[in-house]
Amino acid sequence: MRRKLAAGNWKMNGLGAGLSEITALTAAHPDPSVDLLICPPATLIDRAAAIAAGHPLMIGGQDCHGNTNGAHTGDTSAQMLADSGATAVITGHSERRTDHNETDAQIADKSQAAYDANLIAVICIGETLAERDSHTTLDVIDTQLAGSVPDTATAQNTVIAYEPVWAIGTGKVPTLDQIAEVHAHIRQRLTARFPDGADVRILYGGSVKGSNATEIFAVPDVDGALVGGASLKADDFSPIIAALESA
Ligand code: 13P
Repeated sequence: MRRKLAAGNWKMNGLGAGLSEITALTAAHPDPSVDLLICPPATLIDRAAAIAAGHPLMIGGQDCHGNTNGAHTGDTSAQMLADSGATAVITGHSERRTDHNETDAQIADKSQAAYDANLIAVICIGETLAERDSHTTLDVIDTQLAGSVPDTATAQNTVIAYEPVWAIGTGKVPTLDQIAEVHAHIRQRLTARFPDGADVRILYGGSVKGSNATEIFAVPDVDGALVGGASLKADDFSPIIAALESA
């Protein structure tokens, strides 16, 4: 049985005042029947973790370096995230692949660094619109899965997030058939490669909202969501959590 996961990625949003949203989230869901994760900016991790202490809500980072420490100005190691109270980290988000030219090999290193720091790696993959239009989506998924997911991945230390780049922050969502096709493909690849690949959770991400969550969560092999904009406010994220709890 895969435990469902509702994950929020705050991206480069959130100041101290925004931590009240985490307070509100824990108050609205005192005993959630699904796993919950919020990835605030690194500057808020320790305060967010303190607020979430005693509640099952997990706090995570949005990126980590592949090394434990060293001369890498401005970077944050997985160990540092863990030390701040994080229990997970997003790796390979498309915004980092684009803004920072991150490669699959670097993302695999970051994910391995996450495992070494006892963090869950939420490894993101997904095609661009040009790739979808040229019917190479599944090839792109294969390349990213093979290159970004370490051989040491297990159902305990890894979550895969399928985020079509063209659906992120655009309000555009793939059809349910398109989501089903990619998730089934990812599942097949995971089970072929890893002994417990059937138990690895696969999240969908890209313009998930309270109004579309229920139909997306009904798609086979969708084990939850990685949510951007609609995770910033507890009032917007709560209906998504509720939809997942009743899926
Ligand atoms: P939106 O939910 O804002 O489309 O963002 C999705 C995302 O990139 C989560 O990582």
